[in-house]
Amino acid sequence: MAETMNGLHRSHRCTEVDNTMLGNTVTLMGWVQKRRNLGSLIFIDLRDRSGLIQIVFDEPVVGAEGFRKATELRSEYVIAVTGTVQKRTAAVNENLKTGDIEIMAQDLRILSEAQTPPFPIEAGIHTKDEVRLKYRYLDLRRPDLQQNLMLRSKVAGIIRSFLLDEGFLEIETPMLQKSTPEGARDYLVPSRIHPGSFYALPQSPQLFKQLLMCAGYDRYFQIARCFRDEDLRADRQPEFTQVDMELSFVDMDDVINVTERLLARMFKEALGVDVALPMPRMTWQEAMDRFGSDKPDNRFGMELCDVSDVVKDCGFGVFTSALEQGGSVRGINVKGQGAMPRKQIDKLVEFAKGCGAKGLAYLCVQEDGGYKSSFAKFLSEEGLDKLVKAMDAEPGDLLLFAADCNKIVWETLGALRLHLGKELQLYDPSMFSFLWVVDFPQFEWSQEQERYVAMHHPFTMPHDEDLDLIDSAPEKVRAKAYDIVLNGCELGSGSIRIHQSDVQEKMFEALGFTKEEAHERFGFLLDAFSYGVPPHAGLAFGLDRTVMLMAGAETIRDVIAFPKVKDASCLMTEAPTPVDEMQLKELALSLRE
Ligand code: AMO
Ligand code: AMP
Repeated sequence: MAETMNGLHRSHRCTEVDNTMLGNTVTLMGWVQKRRNLGSLIFIDLRDRSGLIQIVFDEPVVGAEGFRKATELRSEYVIAVTGTVQKRTAAVNENLKTGDIEIMAQDLRILSEAQTPPFPIEAGIHTKDEVRLKYRYLDLRRPDLQQNLMLRSKVAGIIRSFLLDEGFLEIETPMLQKSTPEGARDYLVPSRIHPGSFYALPQSPQLFKQLLMCAGYDRYFQIARCFRDEDLRADRQPEFTQVDMELSFVDMDDVINVTERLLARMFKEALGVDVALPMPRMTWQEAMDRFGSDKPDNRFGMELCDVSDVVKDCGFGVFTSALEQGGSVRGINVKGQGAMPRKQIDKLVEFAKGCGAKGLAYLCVQEDGGYKSSFAKFLSEEGLDKLVKAMDAEPGDLLLFAADCNKIVWETLGALRLHLGKELQLYDPSMFSFLWVVDFPQFEWSQEQERYVAMHHPFTMPHDEDLDLIDSAPEKVRAKAYDIVLNGCELGSGSIRIHQSDVQEKMFEALGFTKEEAHERFGFLLDAFSYGVPPHAGLAFGLDRTVMLMAGAETIRDVIAFPKVKDASCLMTEAPTPVDEMQLKELALSLRE
């Protein structure tokens, strides 16, 4: 039968014991990693969240009863061991922190027996994700996930202490909010007391943090849980955590400065990595033109090159018709890949089509200076030479071109660039490269809704000199919005907020809201601002994404204790589940057939 603590106290975690403690008596508690029976001696590796240590059971020392219990131990049994620290009798294990010592057991308690787990509890296993997530509590015992969650906890602690030192106040905002859909879909919560009415779970604390500025709190932060009912990807979960900040009486540089110092502190204290400050900045336009992405991975080159001017009269219909329709022709130079086999190039063409391109034109500059190309026959020798020169190509290079509207050209070449950068190992995956992308467009045209929508959110301030363009040329209006990007991943976004009611009204108008609609949705904010509001700005970055990159993990699932899968369900608890008829009745809800 499982024994109890009954007054026993743990003295150390496994790897807190070291070779300065030889001869000391310690009491350790944890899980049996594995047992080896050598007849007169039994060895086990004991595991806790700190790591492993070897325990030896020798019958004359631990006694007959203790030795009998030791023979019963199996993987994942939970035990308490009291014993003395000694130098290893057998070979030293260089791979273990405690590899030169062991504990000679004097007493053993079996605190819990265990079934055989469905997969080994160790780092780097190749078990199917579904199995790991169904038994998440076992998966979470594995050292790689434990390292990740310990890192996450450490990072959260650093964030709190840094921001409190900088004069930020930690303030909680409601989880049950008014639904103000704009952006992702809301998760709704039905109200029992107000049948037919719903709360929404916050997509972010955006409006409340602005109200806190209006209320004079000056500098706010929150490590805030957010909920968005959107399609999941490796870096997206339906619930996730933002480090959310808002500051009064500031401009963009102030927000950028404090965020940079916070990130530098996190990387230094948690990883020992020095981040050079200030971080580089790039406008959105430059990011798109050079990298085909608003979150460029700037760890390597292979930048996009606009060759529209070079090919505008080239005679190749694919290129010229894209230009006639207001699009562009751009290329990337894949250095030294001119000898890439046709089969592989065809795969790149398929990849491009997967990004929405109609095709991908290629040109290999051969070692003898000749060209091998999918479109050479359409261009004159001179035209080809001009193109190759514009692309800065040398013999042995592979040139890839996309012709289409800018959006598709950017998306295609941007994605190809990332794909090739990874495939050809053009960067050191362990490096951290930060970048600010600034001056985002204020509006983006939504094909679906047939109206302009705010690229960031409707409370983002346009550039002063672009205010007059809101009516005449909305697509040209630049926002005072900024994103922080790390290794090609959007860590966070922020903006200067509109604090003037006339600008806000203009903004709502441009977004297609009538005055009434705007008041219906955001009236409380507009009213609040009429009572005196300081200029304010803020930013939120994803804690999950940041820790994912810090941990070198592939997905944010690996830094979230209990994540959901692609269809937003939890494989362990099986949520979401149908509910009792009684619960629905209480909420005045009935389900459609
Ligand atoms: P935004 O919508 O850009 O800005 O979100 C900020 C950051 O939150 C993270 N994030 C996510 N992480 C995991 N799963 C998701 N589904 C998910 N969605 C977003 C990203 C993102 O950069 N209120 C504004 C911020 C502001 O203006 O202050 C906002 O929420 O890392
Ligand atoms: P086609 O004349 O359609 O056979 O196309 C000639 C070459 O142009 C092929 O290599 C196509 O993959 C490529 N191509 C077709 N459409 C595009 C496009 N929109 N952008 C770039 N290349 C294209």
